[in-house]
Amino acid sequence: MIQQVQQYLEEHRARFEEDLCALLRYPSVSADPTCRDAIHQTACWLLRRLEGLGLSSELIPTEGSPLVYAESPPVEGAPCILVYGHYDVQPPDPLDEWRTPPFEPTVRDGNIYARGATDDKGQMLTHLHGAEAWLKTVGKLPVQLKFLLEGEEEVGSHSLNRYLGQASERLACDVIVISDTPQLGPDQPAITCGLRGIAYYELRLQGPAHDLHSGSFGGAVGNPINAAARLLAALIDDQGRIQLPGFYQDVQPLSASDREELARLPFEEARFRQQLAVDSLAGEAGYTTLERRWARPSFDVHGIVGGYQGEGGKTVLPSRAVAKFSFRLVPDQQPEAITAALQRFFEERCPPGIRLQLELLHGSTGFLLPREHPYLAAACRAVEAGFGRAPVLIREGGSIPIVSEFNRHLDVPCLLLGWGLDDDNMHAPNEKFSLAALHRGSQASACLWHELATMPSDDEGVSVAHA
Ligand code: BES
Ligand code: ZN
Repeated sequence: MIQQVQQYLEEHRARFEEDLCALLRYPSVSADPTCRDAIHQTACWLLRRLEGLGLSSELIPTEGSPLVYAESPPVEGAPCILVYGHYDVQPPDPLDEWRTPPFEPTVRDGNIYARGATDDKGQMLTHLHGAEAWLKTVGKLPVQLKFLLEGEEEVGSHSLNRYLGQASERLACDVIVISDTPQLGPDQPAITCGLRGIAYYELRLQGPAHDLHSGSFGGAVGNPINAAARLLAALIDDQGRIQLPGFYQDVQPLSASDREELARLPFEEARFRQQLAVDSLAGEAGYTTLERRWARPSFDVHGIVGGYQGEGGKTVLPSRAVAKFSFRLVPDQQPEAITAALQRFFEERCPPGIRLQLELLHGSTGFLLPREHPYLAAACRAVEAGFGRAPVLIREGGSIPIVSEFNRHLDVPCLLLGWGLDDDNMHAPNEKFSLAALHRGSQASACLWHELATMPSDDEGVSVAHA
């Protein structure tokens, strides 16, 4: 039976690629209010695609982007799986760095280039392909599937968060599956057992009521960009240690076995440096690169805006500055506690003549999956079947805000089966997804339904351990 399903996926490769291109043409940028229409059309495209599979499907309106929901009938004795994905994408800028336009998908060297190719349209579609292959060959799925696709992941999943609070019964399942993470390398698939959380802020600083001549006024009037630079720089020392009081209070130290496990992974630092075109790496003293990326908190400024940005020089003392920055958090760290400490930290240091406003734009906690769950072993077999190589278990540094909320509301394990690659240019110009990963991912998905079908569902007494 599974051979038929696998063969179907092979035979329909060309159409699956066209499908992905169609989906990638929508500029579904959730951060950009002018893209609301495109967001809606993307959701409708997915809805039609799921309806076409014969699933009972629905568009759920929210204050923000609509949720797309679809489900197949329950299968007695087999588990129910909730597949989550996101159809929104990051803004495409800087536009002039794209070799081909971000919303005109182009295939080059076995990769499809477009904003959202890997994050997350391409990865998300693999599960629709996996389901389609079963439905068009066997006529039914071996497990119950519930698809929940959202359009606000890149801006913090606010609408889905609210919906979760009221829909836990509808979304009840035995396990959640998400493909929105990278593999360890081109020939090394991986299952992600940990994610970092995030606390993302905007800091607004106001100085004089309007811009001033820096010759007449400089040195005597507070400069909000100088102030932003000082405040942000004070947050981290030259050892890469975050200086916010209490910041490390909830950070569990890495155990010797955690560290050994990370050290055993096939990761070549020289190759990593080369890929990024940097001559050396930087981070918290005393930790390896993988520890710094996946298992330790970090601090990054994403943008500082204010003053003169045009050609040449202009001697201006700006009236305003805005900075966007975030902390990546490890499990147990809570964004709310960090916000309170940060507000105090800035107020204590804010120079005279400057008023500040701090806003938490989004916050989510990190995630860790215990290694012993039987569903994880089933997922490993499915990934091996799809990719021809057994996956390694890794952690990742990125955040999928809804994962910890799923944990809280649905109380089931979450399998992060990622098909991306570190050099897919997620959030950057020339984002891509490998066509090989698209097809292997679809195969792994179809096999996953098969593997999970033989596992008992929660009602039959599998102990569902979770973090
Ligand atoms: N696909 C990423 C999450 C990810 C990135 C996981 C890298 C593992 C490695 C997701 O779409 C994403 O970018 N999330 C945002 C969330 C934020 C905007 C709240 C992130 O991590 O920056
Ligand atoms: Zn993303």
